[in-house]
Amino acid sequence: MRRALLWASRNGWLRARVPRLRFVRRAVRRFMPGETLEAALAAADALRAAGQGVALTRLGENLVVLAQADAVAAHYHGVLDRATAGPAPVEISVKPTQLGLDIDAETTFRHLDGLARHAAEAGSWLWLDMESSPYVEPTLALYERLRALHPNTGICLQAYLRRTPGDLRRLLPLGPAVRLVKGAYDEPGAIAWRSRGEVDAAFLGLALPLAEAARDGRARLALGTHDADLVRQVATFAGAAGVPRERLEVHMLYGIRAAELRRLQADGFPAFTLVAYGEAWYPWYMRRLAERPANLIFALRQVLPWP
Ligand code: FDA
Repeated sequence: MRRALLWASRNGWLRARVPRLRFVRRAVRRFMPGETLEAALAAADALRAAGQGVALTRLGENLVVLAQADAVAAHYHGVLDRATAGPAPVEISVKPTQLGLDIDAETTFRHLDGLARHAAEAGSWLWLDMESSPYVEPTLALYERLRALHPNTGICLQAYLRRTPGDLRRLLPLGPAVRLVKGAYDEPGAIAWRSRGEVDAAFLGLALPLAEAARDGRARLALGTHDADLVRQVATFAGAAGVPRERLEVHMLYGIRAAELRRLQADGFPAFTLVAYGEAWYPWYMRRLAERPANLIFALRQVLPWP
């Protein structure tokens, strides 16, 4: 089921048709406060009032006309203009292919550089999402250049990739901010761990050196997972190495396990919610379904006559 949903996430025919279905539009609301920036900002205000950090991401990926990257960058500059008042400025999270990485990496870098500078002026942060495996190397290269200029930048690393321990060793000397996630794409066994146990073990193995670096002020660590047991496991091992919970940020996606995030927040973990919005939600939503195929039943319930 997971592979079928991930296949569907990449299928152009479905991408053109599924978002028009009213029941799918209703179901997607569970994961998005709305398609507009206004809806995302309203959700962000409520979360910030509850003491959480917020990152905003406007959905969209793999743009095919480079000029569209200018509009995407302009949009994020607008977000930084509007959403950074208050003690904890809203952060932004972008996909490199949303800024033209498929077409011209220099243009992507120029936009990221401008956004990172603007974010620094606003006291905010710029995060790079990590897309499927062909983008890992170019995204790391973008981040290395970016981090050399802007300390307020972070990158997502995917625990399921066998290469990631090496990538982490490469990034640690830079004093990185890392959002560690399990990984959302359909990657072959030759390059990725496939079983849950292997991915969780890899996550733990990556989190610990990052936690120690965070303890010493050499890194910022965000545990990007809804797996509260795994967060607590990281905290136990990291605690034994003298890492306080305040150094272990937990980042979750809007609409998923929010009560669990509040519990972790009450237990002393800095909590962040990544709020997605925008019209181009189809591939992103399909990846959310693939993470938990039971979500498909929730979506179908929007159309079926029985409860
Ligand atoms: P796991 O899949 O084990 O889930 C733990 C529990 O959380 C499940 O038992 C379930 O109850 C609940 N849960 C998880 N996903 C759910 C869902 N979709 N719907 C309902 N319940 C769900 N990936 C990537 O490749 N590149 C990226 O840049 C990012 N960025 C990112 C940022 C943030 C803040 C988060 C939280 C996640 C990402 N991801 C990502 C996605 C990540 O790789 C992964 O696919 C999901 O987080 C699901 O894995 P979990 O770590 O939550 O664990």
